[in-house]
Amino acid sequence: MAEDLQDIRQQALSQISLLSSPDEIEEARVKYLGRKSALTLFLRTLGSMDPATRSQMGAAANQVKNDIEQSIAQREQELSESLYAGLENDRVDMTLPAADDRLGHLHPITRTWMLIEDIFQRIGFEVASGPEVEWDKYNFELLNMPKEHPARDTQDTFYLTGEILLRTQTSPVQIRHMESHTPPVRIIAPGRVYRRDYDMTHTPMFHQFEGLVVAEGITLQDLKGTCSYAMKNLLGEATNVRFRPHHFPFTEPSLEVDVSCNICQGQGCRTCKQTGWLEMAGAGMVHPQVLRNVGYDPEKVSGFAFGFGIDRIAMMRYGISDLRMMFENDMRFLKQF
Ligand code: PHE
Repeated sequence: MAEDLQDIRQQALSQISLLSSPDEIEEARVKYLGRKSALTLFLRTLGSMDPATRSQMGAAANQVKNDIEQSIAQREQELSESLYAGLENDRVDMTLPAADDRLGHLHPITRTWMLIEDIFQRIGFEVASGPEVEWDKYNFELLNMPKEHPARDTQDTFYLTGEILLRTQTSPVQIRHMESHTPPVRIIAPGRVYRRDYDMTHTPMFHQFEGLVVAEGITLQDLKGTCSYAMKNLLGEATNVRFRPHHFPFTEPSLEVDVSCNICQGQGCRTCKQTGWLEMAGAGMVHPQVLRNVGYDPEKVSGFAFGFGIDRIAMMRYGISDLRMMFENDMRFLKQF
């Protein structure tokens, strides 16, 4: 009989240590201490025992009962502690700021565009703009490029109708601004332009900013100084600027503006085709005929104009080699800036 009790105890204690939920604890309480449990059945047999054995077995049975109760209580305590620990670990602090790594930012071209406006506003330029869908008259004719002018071929144009087109340059803003203002004028006009072009350094839509200054006594020196100021501010104080003779129908004389390659510091590399220089802009002194076209008197005022590629500047500032990536909206690319 003493062995039976020990078996009951042994079995119960080993099972109890394995319990893993409040429901299982309740089942075990019924199973080991309930009315039909082996222990209860044993206690019922006490009455039929002789008094000496009864008191001995009674004490032993009570001891087993206590052990089982204590064991269940202990397991219950352990379980509730581990449940609580689990909840502690999973706890969410609703007052913490959300961790969101997908916060947006401005496109590298927008940032460059804004910086350009800032740099020119600092020296007294106003920001002007004009439509992207433009009249032939403004994009070409009043810029001294009549219908059959050969220079039109250098800007492969998207025509919407015979007279309406997607502007190929920001230069029409020069005309629009001069038509509605009297000198002195001092503007930049950043914006989108369109040409039928597509390769590493050309996309059908790209960005330019036009500069125009017209007043009494404006000379080529003013043009050169303004371009140098802008390039040094945009690409670094160490940037060298050089001017080469060129031709545009709406400026005379005309120049192209190069900057020292900031990838090889002018030593010669693939990007600058081993020349050490990168072409950044067309520029020149506003052609007297263009001034006349807008009602200005070329005997009284003179001016300079330039047209820079914004995308080119952004590519150099951010070290991007393929212009097309700028417009593909690939998050892996955009995320880097
Ligand atoms: N509009 C010319 C181009 O896109 C650049 C330019 C602007 C040249 C102003 C001279 C003066 O090629």
